[in-house]
Amino acid sequence: MKKKIQTAFLVMLLSSTSVCALADNSFARGEIIFKKCAGCHGLDGRNKAFGKSGVIAGQDSADLMESLNFYKESEFKGQGSTLVMAKQLKTFSTQDLNDVVTYVSKLPK
Ligand code: HEC
Repeated sequence: MKKKIQTAFLVMLLSSTSVCALADNSFARGEIIFKKCAGCHGLDGRNKAFGKSGVIAGQDSADLMESLNFYKESEFKGQGSTLVMAKQLKTFSTQDLNDVVTYVSKLPK
């Protein structure tokens, strides 16, 4: 009985820490993911990629997510610069999108 309680407590402890870690890690994970974007958008997110994109640093997270979903959903049907972005996001999970958006939205404008 005592062991069961200990196990339950341990499970609770582990699951609550991993939930916190996830929330805190979104920014950190986003920073790692953003290294793939920096080549075109700049390390500070302020390059205009190929002279085509806007400055993405500090954009509202809802706007960023809308752009990324647009590119992701237009996968390979798009042309030119839209296609470039679609390729970047091809293998991104929802979590990856969320994390990179968290990071980019917090970059100084
Ligand atoms: C190979 C170069 C390249 C890479 C790498 C790249 N992008 Fe882009 N990105 C572009 C181009 C070009 C556009 C403009 C596309 C268009 O014409 O709509 C763009 C547009 C965008 C936009 C819309 C910007 C606006 O105008 O508001 C966002 C947001 C964005 N990219 C985010 C990202 C993120 C996040 C990553 C990394 C996962 C990334 N990009 C990687 C080239 C790139």
